[in-house]
Amino acid sequence: MIAPSTKTAWWLATFLTVFVTGEMPIQAEVEPEFLQELENHTVTQGRDVHFTCVVNHLSNYRVAWIKSDSKAILAIHTNMVALNPRLSVTYNNHNTWKLHVSNVQANDSGTYMCQVNTDPMKSQMGHLSVVIPPDIVDTVTEGSSSREGGSIRLTCSATGVPPPTVTWRRENNRPIVFRQDGGREKKVVESHKGESLELFHVQRSDMGAYYCIASNGVPPTVSRRYHVQVHFIPQVKVTNQLVGAPIGSDVELQCYIEASPKAMNSWYREDALVNGKIFENPKLRVMETIVNEYSLWMNLTIKSLAPSDYGTYVCASVNALGKMESQVSLHRLELNMNGFVEEPMVSGAAWQRARSSSTFNADPAASHARPFCFASHLPPQLYAILLTTLLYILTF
Ligand SMILES: *[C@@H]1O[C@H](CO)[C@@H](O)[C@H](O)[C@H]1NC(C)=O
Ligand SMILES: *[C@@H]1O[C@H](CO)[C@@H](O)[C@H](O)[C@H]1NC(C)=O
Ligand SMILES: *[C@@H]1O[C@H](CO)[C@@H](O)[C@H](O)[C@H]1NC(C)=O
Repeated sequence: MIAPSTKTAWWLATFLTVFVTGEMPIQAEVEPEFLQELENHTVTQGRDVHFTCVVNHLSNYRVAWIKSDSKAILAIHTNMVALNPRLSVTYNNHNTWKLHVSNVQANDSGTYMCQVNTDPMKSQMGHLSVVIPPDIVDTVTEGSSSREGGSIRLTCSATGVPPPTVTWRRENNRPIVFRQDGGREKKVVESHKGESLELFHVQRSDMGAYYCIASNGVPPTVSRRYHVQVHFIPQVKVTNQLVGAPIGSDVELQCYIEASPKAMNSWYREDALVNGKIFENPKLRVMETIVNEYSLWMNLTIKSLAPSDYGTYVCASVNALGKMESQVSLHRLELNMNGFVEEPMVSGAAWQRARSSSTFNADPAASHARPFCFASHLPPQLYAILLTTLLYILTF
């Protein structure tokens, strides 16, 4: 059914093909054929990748590479058409063509086609997905510090392909506490998903390092550390407000302090003319034990008590938000044949200031009873009342 002019054109084309290439044109039964599928690739941005197209019986047809979403012809045989220096084609002089993409960029994603110019054309496609590891974008974080009871909002934006998931965690696997309804309701979680972390009614226990972690399955995962500060007036509590010790003995006065921001802490003699002067006394030594970011013990040791060492000692803590102190009344215990008997020396003033630490929430001080504590020679009923009162004060 071929028109004579078409037949002539065909013969002419064949003649020219033989004349120009020195090869016989393709026979219908040996059409070019692909030997394997074009691969799909998932590549991290910046890496190199190549597609492999294997064609048998190509004869004098040509292999071309096309970016099928944009219909752009990238290369014909090994000649580059696209003006992209990151693309190249290699041929093994047999049946294999490779399209190389070096330093892969996000916009290289898409479908690539290896095509043979038969009529109709033959082609096969492979997909390139470019993935990008997560990155945390610099954002201004407002208010990572707050007064106790206030709120804190941390935000963390992450980029990457596919879009990363942002997870919040606390340092040392401490739980994240969300408070609602004025702090009456709380939800405790190990981690929180989302670009922002909002904490309401923050408490001092919420203080510390928080991490935002961005991951999208493409290594490396990235994280950023945020520091949450919760500020409050110092709270000060002495283990025992009444301490009795005999002359010549050593005594340790213990004081527990919670403060944030950092406070100036000191022990002083209430009757000392100048605060702090007592530390020039070689018999005295102040030792601090850090409990956590905002709590510490500050213990005062007095060696071989002399009569002038008895009196009222004050443990004080002052920070930007205020000052708080607590007193210890150190009094003399007289030794007699029956054991220890102390001089009665229960001063009401010694504990009033300590009451200011009314919302004290830790009880380490309450559990330690010192050996020479107080008033053990009182009538049992009075002793019990006094003990109960003291325990009550120490606990609240
Ligand atoms: C490439 O992906 C397409 C679609 O996602 C799929 O049809 C094809 O089989 C894949 N090719 C290979 C070689 O796995
Ligand atoms: C693809 O991205 C690279 C790097 O970001 C850029 O240099 C190039 O011009 C982009 N090409 C196109 C076609 O948009
Ligand atoms: C201070 O006293 C507390 C409570 O008994 C104790 O845990 C801590 O180790 C003491 N610190 C020092 C330095 O002695």
